[in-house]
Amino acid sequence: MNLPTPASVFAQRRAQLAALIGPKGVALIPTAPEQQRNRDADFLYRPDSYFYYLCGFTEPQAWLVITGDGKSTLFCAPKDVEREIWDGYRLGPAAAPAELGLDAAYSIAELDTQLPGLLDGRDAVWYPFATHKGLETRVDGWLNKVRARVRYGTLCPEQQRDLCGPLDEMRLVKDASEQATMRRAAQISAGGHIRAMQLSARMLREGQAVREYHLDAELLHEFRRHGSQAPAYGSIVAAGANACVLHYRADAGLVQSGELVLIDAGCELDGYASDITRTFPANGTFSGPQRALYELVLASQEAAIAVTKAGARFTDPHEATVKVLAQGLLDLGLLDKNKVGTLQDVIEKRAYFQFYMHRTGHWLGMDVHDCGGYIEPSEIGQTSERKDALTGETIIDRPARILQPGMVLTIEPGLYVRPAEGVPAQFHNIGIRIEDDAIVTTTGCELISRGVPVAVAEIEALMRG
Ligand code: GLY
Ligand code: MN
Ligand code: MN
Repeated sequence: MNLPTPASVFAQRRAQLAALIGPKGVALIPTAPEQQRNRDADFLYRPDSYFYYLCGFTEPQAWLVITGDGKSTLFCAPKDVEREIWDGYRLGPAAAPAELGLDAAYSIAELDTQLPGLLDGRDAVWYPFATHKGLETRVDGWLNKVRARVRYGTLCPEQQRDLCGPLDEMRLVKDASEQATMRRAAQISAGGHIRAMQLSARMLREGQAVREYHLDAELLHEFRRHGSQAPAYGSIVAAGANACVLHYRADAGLVQSGELVLIDAGCELDGYASDITRTFPANGTFSGPQRALYELVLASQEAAIAVTKAGARFTDPHEATVKVLAQGLLDLGLLDKNKVGTLQDVIEKRAYFQFYMHRTGHWLGMDVHDCGGYIEPSEIGQTSERKDALTGETIIDRPARILQPGMVLTIEPGLYVRPAEGVPAQFHNIGIRIEDDAIVTTTGCELISRGVPVAVAEIEALMRG
């Protein structure tokens, strides 16, 4: 087995987790189940993120048990010549400890018989809550087996604790090995975006009919040829008005000269996601109105990037974005100041929401919308109440997370203009998003996805070539 990350890195993470659950704790981490797609065909297998983070093992049918004394035990599929002929190589429990740097390994068939013994004498059993169907019931079953033998001297853990808490905190700050993988994933994805842009312009120049799936195929080709296992999420390739559908998926829409194309796509590499959006003119040249809106979104992204640094709040980039977008919407006449008032009014009443209805970013890591709390843990009790200007709902605000070096987030402002009364026709059906991946540093942030440009002139230049 070739681990893309040294086994010592996983061992370090397990040791850190063992310290967090305390000397008498025990943590149970199942990997993901295989998922049937339809008869006799499974979805491409992907291990569970928490499980992979702690041991790097990619086979299905496996569990990891970590005890507070720092010992790690793997349960995995046993060697089986016949099954391996059909399904492929299995590492097996005999080879697993040395290969993965674990203390012990057993066949998965022994899970139910071994688990009660591993739980006996522990004060708390930790497992990821609400992540695996039926997990709570299985844990209850093992605990009942320990309880059934208390008259013979067993000691059943008194607490069940959510392992997501400590693991999410660990995963939120990416170590050097994770950052290196994410840089590479973003670089590969950037190459895919460039290819898609160039193909669109070339096919239109040659008079060919371009469809969204042609561009999707370029992305996939580039991802896979550089060793990415799969896209990190369903690629969005949205031509023209489709760009105003936030969760549109690459389909068969015609990509027409004169329209914009929005591509939100990123590869997954060795368990880590990238998440890039670019919006470009199908034929390689922005029209006046397209350019005006694009420059506005880009300026709002620049404002967000400028405030993304250690010590800032997670919400600072969003607030910076909104300020620029709101002013631009007033300046371009998409919002009528006679109706919506001043910049301050637009922000307070969320009048921009008609055109910008999502947040400016999210954590990025093994999962595209990665784990990690968005509230600052040290200030969790500082609540304030307000009424939402649009819905009238009562919202409880808590201080947003303070950014630390090594946190990774996306910065992805956008504007989506659906035809509506009072909205200038020249902007109708334009959807724009620009999304980059940023590693927080002490002085600012490192944009790891800029292998594909964002400036109008640079996009037009690369689509000419
Ligand atoms: N691609 C998903 C997102 O941008 O959040
Ligand atoms: Mn995103
Ligand atoms: Mn995205």
